[in-house]
Amino acid sequence: MANDNAAGPVFFELNNGLRIPSVGLGTWQADPGVVGDIIVAAVKAGYRHIDCARLYENEKEIGMALKKLFTEGVVKREDMWITSKLWCTDHASEDVPEAMDRTLQDLQLDYVDLYLVHWPFRMEKGTIAASEFQKFCPVDICSTWRAMEKLYDSGKAHAIGVSNFSTKKLGDLLTYAHITPAVNQVECHPVWQQMHLRAFCQSKGIHLSAHTPLGSRGTSWVKTDILKNPIINMVAEKLCKTPAQVSLRWGLQNGMSVLPKSVNESRIKENIDLFGWSIPHDLFLKFSEIEQRRLIPGHFAVHETLSPYKSLEELWDGE
Ligand code: A2P
Repeated sequence: MANDNAAGPVFFELNNGLRIPSVGLGTWQADPGVVGDIIVAAVKAGYRHIDCARLYENEKEIGMALKKLFTEGVVKREDMWITSKLWCTDHASEDVPEAMDRTLQDLQLDYVDLYLVHWPFRMEKGTIAASEFQKFCPVDICSTWRAMEKLYDSGKAHAIGVSNFSTKKLGDLLTYAHITPAVNQVECHPVWQQMHLRAFCQSKGIHLSAHTPLGSRGTSWVKTDILKNPIINMVAEKLCKTPAQVSLRWGLQNGMSVLPKSVNESRIKENIDLFGWSIPHDLFLKFSEIEQRRLIPGHFAVHETLSPYKSLEELWDGE
């Protein structure tokens, strides 16, 4: 649903009553040596939400930056929203609490605000390098989810959810979940609008959070630059905003939190300057004319013989 409220939304309310800040800093590919300064710059620019993951191999440095910010009184822990994610090597129910503890130790936190199952596939323990991605194991999301529920009960994760789940995989999880996921974090931006999944999440009270909301532009494996899209540029020009701002604001007005990654201080500021203006209804409608394409297909999760998902069709259940 379009939301023309120019002032907000600054937060979205989750199904357990917690409020997730609507703009978070993405940290995928924010390398150690850079990410610490970026966290400090982002918090000083007003970010209160940092999206992390074990896979990104930078949680230690993020933890040091957060500790410094808390110690110096720049921001209080309770005013920050920190998300992290369970990597595919730690899906076994006995490994889930260990993985949580390692992340908490690296981030120097007592709890995360949100802990997500990063992908709906599982790999052998110890596999982290991309070259080893094909050491798949059979998936058993039910046992992983039970362990996630225990983390929620323990208070180490104030909310739990999933990431990169199709409508079908999320629907399957709902058949046995005692705790409904609070969030499904997926690729979403004007060039991959996820209409079907969004409608499903909304109907089940699951908040959709948009990773790679700028289409991961500039990275070697993504050939499409969403910020060059003519419709996005037309809207940006009319509103005197940048294409990135218009893309992110489109997400907010569709009810999703957005997690732009940047390691550049001026772009970090630009990416949170999304309030006090909105995309008017006539221009908002124009986004429905944008040709749709998934930009992060997840080839690494697919293998004809080794993976439980033999094709991208199976990974995304046709979405
Ligand atoms: P950089 O980190 O140098 O700013 P996504 O959030 O979809 O993963 O996209 C991240 C990519 O988009 C990175 O290459 C990032 O580069 C770039 N980026 C982030 N913010 C902006 C912006 N406001 N304008 C243009 N490019 C941006």
